[in-house]
Amino acid sequence: MSIDNPIETSHAGVVKHVLVVSYSQSGQLSRVVERILTPLHADSRIAVHVETLQPKPTFAFPWTLRRFLDAFPESALQIPPALEPLSLSGEEDFDLIILPYQVWFLAPSQPIVAFMRHPLTRRLLAGKPVVTVIACRNMWLMAQEKMKRLIDAAGARLIDNVALTDNAHTLATLITTPLWVLTGNRQVVGCLPPAGVDEHDIQHAIRFGHALREALHEDRERQAAPLLSGLCAVNVNPQLLVSEKAATRSFFIWGKLLHAAGRPGSAQRVPLLAIYSLFLVAMVATVVPLSLALQAVLRPLLVRRLSTLKQSFEQPSGSASDRMSRYD
Ligand SMILES: Cc1cc2nc3c(=O)[nH]c(=O)nc-3n(C[C@H](O)[C@H](O)[C@H](O)COP(=O)(O)O)c2cc1C
Repeated sequence: MSIDNPIETSHAGVVKHVLVVSYSQSGQLSRVVERILTPLHADSRIAVHVETLQPKPTFAFPWTLRRFLDAFPESALQIPPALEPLSLSGEEDFDLIILPYQVWFLAPSQPIVAFMRHPLTRRLLAGKPVVTVIACRNMWLMAQEKMKRLIDAAGARLIDNVALTDNAHTLATLITTPLWVLTGNRQVVGCLPPAGVDEHDIQHAIRFGHALREALHEDRERQAAPLLSGLCAVNVNPQLLVSEKAATRSFFIWGKLLHAAGRPGSAQRVPLLAIYSLFLVAMVATVVPLSLALQAVLRPLLVRRLSTLKQSFEQPSGSASDRMSRYD
């Protein structure tokens, strides 16, 4: 690392350097990350640099309905917003990169896409091991496929993925999540569970930090094997894959159409956005429940296929829980 690097000079005796990218609107994702980082922060031999992303213009939380819909085309097409300058120079040499992100319209959120496409990012990430950390409603499979391509493009290697999701029924979350991000209130409808990742799951994310700390001490981040296996890092519901794939296709077409209609925030987009919002509600109300119902009926025929898909999308960290008692 360069001699004037504040990360190095302020941590005498440090042996491992970890870069963590941070962006969270409600604070949910930051809280998950904070729990993971607790054991790393407490270790004087590990220096953690948290780089907080600041998109220009900012995305206000809670969202207005218009801003929420207006964020759709660029999210779906992964067209990044501008970012305020990063505090990094690109010369830093990190041992491990932690990339937390939330999902926006089945894609990594715009701020994290902006970071992944930033001119400095390739220099920071090339050849480095990356751990992705997702906190979202429960549809992240297609977003992670996109993130894998962004990680590949940066020349980095994905070694682990942690995904924390809302435990409520998918159909309930399709109502509670939009209400949460549009009002800032997790429980708008009394008879539905509160939106967001369960507090217990957030607290127990500390196990990933314990496992990362131990792995860093043993130089295991240099190897190809995941560091977070056996810790229930992900638990894929393969039945949502059908809806995610169908929605991703339609999002791409609608995204192109809306993006061509005008710039983000422009008045020309409004009529198309209004039509699109009706389409979105119709799709959420039909495609997701229909595909779930159909798969429930066909379950005996699909068991093997779904189990293969589950295993494949759970890579690299997996859903096994055999090391939980050691780190939890
Ligand atoms: C514009 C927007 C789109 C979203 N789309 C999805 C989605 O496609 N899949 C999903 O599981 N969650 C989705 N979410 C929920 C977010 O991933 C995330 O859980 C929530 O916004 C809280 O994130 P925070 O940590 O930034 O507050 C969306 C949220 C927003 C604001």
